[in-house]
Amino acid sequence: MRTFLAISNVMRTDGEFSLKDIPGTSGRADVIARSVTSAFLTSHGIRADVELYVVCLGPPDPPKTIRFIGSELKHLNPDERTTASLLQKALRTDPGGSWTVSTPGIQVKRSGLEVLDNLPKPFFLLSEDGGPFRPEGGTYVLGDHRGLTEEQMASMDSAGAERISLGPVSLHTDQCIVLIHNGLDTV
Ligand SMILES: C[S@@+](CC[C@H](N)C(=O)[O-])C[C@H]1O[C@@H](n2cnc3c(N)ncnc32)[C@H](O)[C@@H]1O
Repeated sequence: MRTFLAISNVMRTDGEFSLKDIPGTSGRADVIARSVTSAFLTSHGIRADVELYVVCLGPPDPPKTIRFIGSELKHLNPDERTTASLLQKALRTDPGGSWTVSTPGIQVKRSGLEVLDNLPKPFFLLSEDGGPFRPEGGTYVLGDHRGLTEEQMASMDSAGAERISLGPVSLHTDQCIVLIHNGLDTV
């Protein structure tokens, strides 16, 4: 199993955005949509052995965590609009204290970073200033286009996360996910 966790500090958490202007109305749900497709889609299929958690901390109704389960996912296509629409459905689903299904393979829960308590260790925090990436199992944690706050970096340090770098160039979240997959695919 490969586990990713993306922290979204900006995407709207009520799902009230226009699919005709995703970047302009959603708090950049397009960034998260690309991360979802990179986590699961290959050229001709879907990675069943992947789970992605998106911790949604943006306004106006945080926190919510959306969980994507590769072995159960349906209706995921390469285009951003379809994925943004799945995100929208999840964000419009009333989140309970336990996982609630919004569409097949997608669940939502009223939770913030504490969701990490139940994810596989070790934790790896993707950070330009980290040590080398040695592909291995665990949970890979990434920021959105703004990155993690100082407080979130400190929380990850307290959780024992090892900072790892994919090189000196700052990449997009979805690009990092592709590189991690490639590293794990080729060990
Ligand atoms: C677009 S970057 C965020 C840039 C933001 N300005 C910052 O300084 O954090 C999105 C996320 O991808 C990851 N990332 C980007 N480039 C990376 C690299 N070279 N090595 C490791 N992680 C990287 C980090 O987790 C980062 O939060």
